[in-house]
Amino acid sequence: MKKLDSTQLRKAYLDFFKARGHAVIPTASLIPENDPTVLFTTAGMHPLVPYLLGEKHPAGKRLTDVQICVRTGDIDEVGDASHCTFFEMLGNWSLGDYFKKESIGWSFEFLTDVLEIPVDRLAVSVFGGDEDCPRDDESAQIWKSLGLPEKNIFFLPKKNNWWGPAGVTGPCGPDTEIFLDTGKPACGEDCTPACDCGKYLEIWNNVFMQYFKDAEGKLNPMEHKNVDTGMGLERTLVTLNGYASVYETDLFDYAIAELEKLSGKKHGENEADTVAMRIIADHTRTATFLLGDVKPVSPSNVDQGYVLRRLIRRAMRYCRTLGVESDALLALADLYVGKYGEVYPNIAENRERILSELETERGKFAKTIEQGLKEFDKILTHIPVGTFPGKTAFRLYDTFGFPIEMTEELAREKGYTVDRAGYEKAFAEHQEKSKAGAEQKFKGGLADGGEATARLHSATHLLNFALKKVLKDDGIMQRGSNITPERLRFDFNFPRPLTEAEIAEVEKVVNEQIASARPVTCEEMSVDEARARGAVGVFADRYGDVVKVYTIGDSVEICGGPHAANTAELGKFRIVKEQSSSAGVRRIKAVLE
Ligand code: ALA
Repeated sequence: MKKLDSTQLRKAYLDFFKARGHAVIPTASLIPENDPTVLFTTAGMHPLVPYLLGEKHPAGKRLTDVQICVRTGDIDEVGDASHCTFFEMLGNWSLGDYFKKESIGWSFEFLTDVLEIPVDRLAVSVFGGDEDCPRDDESAQIWKSLGLPEKNIFFLPKKNNWWGPAGVTGPCGPDTEIFLDTGKPACGEDCTPACDCGKYLEIWNNVFMQYFKDAEGKLNPMEHKNVDTGMGLERTLVTLNGYASVYETDLFDYAIAELEKLSGKKHGENEADTVAMRIIADHTRTATFLLGDVKPVSPSNVDQGYVLRRLIRRAMRYCRTLGVESDALLALADLYVGKYGEVYPNIAENRERILSELETERGKFAKTIEQGLKEFDKILTHIPVGTFPGKTAFRLYDTFGFPIEMTEELAREKGYTVDRAGYEKAFAEHQEKSKAGAEQKFKGGLADGGEATARLHSATHLLNFALKKVLKDDGIMQRGSNITPERLRFDFNFPRPLTEAEIAEVEKVVNEQIASARPVTCEEMSVDEARARGAVGVFADRYGDVVKVYTIGDSVEICGGPHAANTAELGKFRIVKEQSSSAGVRRIKAVLE
């Protein structure tokens, strides 16, 4: 077998298919375009879905590339010899052009001629057929004709030999998978390539896409049959070079060496340390690619950002296990930028972003992780082995930033199962509360609806009116309002402190309005009408809505109420404080006496 490194294997693959009429296309982003059913690009075919469905691809009907992919479904397996959350997939496609014969033939030629894998070391699986789709005898026949011994051809069910779609809907079909037979004895009579005893290592998957799975789960035959193939770069390197794990390949060896240097420990010696090194190396690599993507991701609490956050925080947790500082993540990310920057220029271009975002997230979590882990241990002393309360898991999330998956993992290690439903409930309740809080703020603190607040609210409108008049500035706008039964607080844009004379004048204008003893009126009208009346208030995003307009003295304002019935009810208005609120914003506190 040819011993190639990652650069040589990428090149050998692309050159081989280029020579067979395939256009070499660049990798697409890790963030799928127009596919809400999945967070990440999980396979080479993913960005090509429109073309697999019949759109014309500008580069032609035969394509080949190396696609960067993220899959987090197996995140718990990371730490073993082969699972990675990020990987590169070598692929070639026929868009309604060649089909099984050429596809299988070229795979065979590449593996046996270019990579020099002996024929009897290859094993393949073929779709065994079911009620939806017949057994794939055609593929089996092609393999046989190429000289593959019959005993190396296995018919397996849909569970093993069907691929796709990448999301919930999309192109899919039966596949034939190609394995390297390690030569280890079979683990039993039932040993097939589907078995994970380690005898067979998967290297390539050729999918014969002939169906479109719709939202109802129905398989609809597609007019143009396509071929979609995928070969995992990391795994193939392991196979060719006879490595024990992906961490020995040139894609990872330097990162592991760095972790060995930092920790003073050796990869492969102690299981816990080995797993920790692998998780840190894997997750940091994935984080580097997400942070440096052409559509860059930032850590957050939703979607891709949440996965990124989880990866970074999980890697940090394992830094503690390994006994290295969490800035090991930055050292590793910088090494990855160096290693991958040439193949993926966006990784090199985004170096600053990758390192600074990583540092920010690291800093955020570093502050709480230790305390959170202590708290976690303390909690365990209070509850019997079994269920870990969902509410407590939520507290760890809310207070210490522990992603729920991390708490679940920690709990699992100690023999507990997190009550996930309880966690979701606590989460939802918290969201309800903050939503209620936000609504309350939006109402300007008028939630109690009492008469005192209603009067102060009316006074707020008069203050808004008076400020514009006295300061001779129609650009003055409300920037915030908060009312308690005792006082009003009003923020507005103005570049300087008010003079004492101005404050006195504002008070005078408000009190004159109060003294006019006019009834407060409320009318409903369109935003256009309100604007025509000279009403003040927030017009943005309200276009087409019917709004309530309050007239209080000479003030006309869009507002939801409630208000006093007559200005005379307000009594005497007095400003108790005028101060700065933030740059360019003044704050007035006032009372009615
Ligand atoms: N799309 C196929 C896979 O991911 C090739 O295995």
